[in-house]
Amino acid sequence: MTLYGKIKNALKVRRSFRKEARAFLRLNRLYNASSASGKDRVKMQYLIRREAHTLEKGMSLRVPRKGFGQGKAEHLAERIGSYAARFGRDAFLESPLGTLTRYVGYTESEGGSLPGLRSFLSSYGPVPEVPAVVEVAASDIREKARGDFDSLTASRHSIRYFTTDPVPDSLIEEALVIASRTPSACNRQGWKTHLFRGERCHSLLRWQGGCRGFEDEIGTCILVTADRRAFLYYETHQPYVDGGMYAMNLVNALHYEGLGTIPLSCGFEAAKLLGLRDFGIPENEAPVLLIGVGCMEERFRVAASGRRPVSETHTVEK
Ligand SMILES: Cc1cc2nc3c(=O)[nH]c(=O)nc-3n(C[C@H](O)[C@H](O)[C@H](O)COP(=O)(O)O)c2cc1C
Repeated sequence: MTLYGKIKNALKVRRSFRKEARAFLRLNRLYNASSASGKDRVKMQYLIRREAHTLEKGMSLRVPRKGFGQGKAEHLAERIGSYAARFGRDAFLESPLGTLTRYVGYTESEGGSLPGLRSFLSSYGPVPEVPAVVEVAASDIREKARGDFDSLTASRHSIRYFTTDPVPDSLIEEALVIASRTPSACNRQGWKTHLFRGERCHSLLRWQGGCRGFEDEIGTCILVTADRRAFLYYETHQPYVDGGMYAMNLVNALHYEGLGTIPLSCGFEAAKLLGLRDFGIPENEAPVLLIGVGCMEERFRVAASGRRPVSETHTVEK
């Protein structure tokens, strides 16, 4: 490329980035869930759902830490209280109130006492029963994972404890072949996978930080990244779209192979993401998802993680 071509190219990239950065900053300022969420019903619902999940997740561990989650439960109660004061007790609140009730019941069954939360809940009257944790059997999951697509997706769960059996390489290799059928923009297949085992896996999980209390349960993990070199200067989000689609297929493929998985977020600030260099991940790769992989216990518990009705997430143009 000539010097003129290089300069022209650099200016084009800069202009495009500036425009995108401005649009991104505006949208992020207006819509991120961290700011002005107390006034925004939708943001509050997302935050409440998120906080309720941390309680069900805590109850689904192999051995929940004694007295876990009290601060989180109080925070959730506070948020539910603010939501109800502003928007009234609507149908949305039933599920988080149900999870909070389960949590209080669970803590009491372990000998704890939460009078403040009990009286908070009693002020809401009867709350419908919602499962926070469900017990599942590996044999059932394996059979359903080999059924049709409906049965495969219905039997996949995020699993937070495993046996100590090593994950067979052959199953991972088969899953990688299945996941390689993922569609991608212009068939570029810009995904990469990095497998870690043992102590390196534990360090990566500690860096990730979303599996506090169960890192030691996971002996194998796979980091899915997307190679930025596959994408043009204006395709700044495409690595996450292609990579995310691939990562979901890999999770389903591992499940199909009879392995347990847990998807783990890579949604962190840039400074934290730099820590991935210590794991040999080059800067041209955008981290998409870390997947914890393990062999399932015969019977185990998982967080119920109920889903929103489709009517809430889907619209049809009139
Ligand atoms: C992108 C992504 C990031 C996630 N990060 C975490 C995490 O850091 N820690 C964790 O325990 N679970 C994590 N999960 C698991 C979710 O909590 C779980 O998928 C959700 O509650 C639905 O439950 P299910 O996977 O059992 O259907 C993550 C899932 C996704 C898709």
